[in-house]
Amino acid sequence: MSKRVLITEPIIPSVIDKLKKRYQVDVGERGTYNNEQKLIDDIPAYDALLPMLSNPITEKVIAAGANLDIIANHAVGYNNIDLEAAQKYDVAVANTPDVLTDSCAEFTIGLMLAVSRRLVEAQKYLLDGKFNNWEPLGFLGKELNGSTLGVIGMGRIGTGVARRAKALGMQITYHNRSKVDSELEKQLDAQYCSTLQELVAESDITTLHCPLTEETHHLINEEILSLMPEDAILINTSRGPVVDEEALAHALHNETIGGAGLDVFENEPDLHPKLKTAPNCIRTPHIASASHKTREAIGMLAADAIIGVLEGQPASEIPNLIQP
Ligand code: GLV
Repeated sequence: MSKRVLITEPIIPSVIDKLKKRYQVDVGERGTYNNEQKLIDDIPAYDALLPMLSNPITEKVIAAGANLDIIANHAVGYNNIDLEAAQKYDVAVANTPDVLTDSCAEFTIGLMLAVSRRLVEAQKYLLDGKFNNWEPLGFLGKELNGSTLGVIGMGRIGTGVARRAKALGMQITYHNRSKVDSELEKQLDAQYCSTLQELVAESDITTLHCPLTEETHHLINEEILSLMPEDAILINTSRGPVVDEEALAHALHNETIGGAGLDVFENEPDLHPKLKTAPNCIRTPHIASASHKTREAIGMLAADAIIGVLEGQPASEIPNLIQP
């Protein structure tokens, strides 16, 4: 009997085909496995799980997976998986680092440009038929060139954003658990800020690239927002709960900050009602890694981890295992 793999949503077909060559593969319908009980009901039949970041892989789900050997998340972030439970039940966990760095970094720069030059608002104005004369004072925005970028979380994606921002003429400051190596600091001409307070106060644009943990939950709160310059822009392509959305919506509505570009939300797929109506805010549905090339690479990496574990490869030879 071949081993059984559950992919919880339709993903790029070449990835599904790769797994189908070796295993019996089932693919869930969109959204079905966002439900914990559905996962608990179905998981006993599978040896491997390839879930999305929207699927709650809780202790109950893992405990129900009597045959489960590996969970290979279709994402670099893995806050949807109870790692302690996976360890307790001896289930390996993998994520998809590196392959999405460029896509996410490019997208972040895209959001920075779109918010600072008011692209969405300007298009709406045009389509609403309001562009009837070229306006010397219309849609004045902020240039990235010469602005200061504050990067919170100088890991792979944060560094990718900083490199691109430097090429656009931005000054780079960053806040991280620790300083990055001095060679990288030199290349980026980056200044380390030991406090978040200092970083946001100095930054024209603050961009978030930290994982979601207990420490980073609501890292951007009312106090931090109040320290930002009044034309500051906040960009979030990390995880929604890093930002207190109520506080952000308040800051945007009261124009105590200049704008925001948000690809992630506290209660996805729901949007905070006050963020829906917030001015100078561009909202996208968690698509920073959504290029065809990257989504295929993400799937392939997850599939490789599944194959590695199910074929009994040594854990040290499976590069993207978070825990064996
Ligand atoms: C996307 O948000 C990811 O973590 O890959």
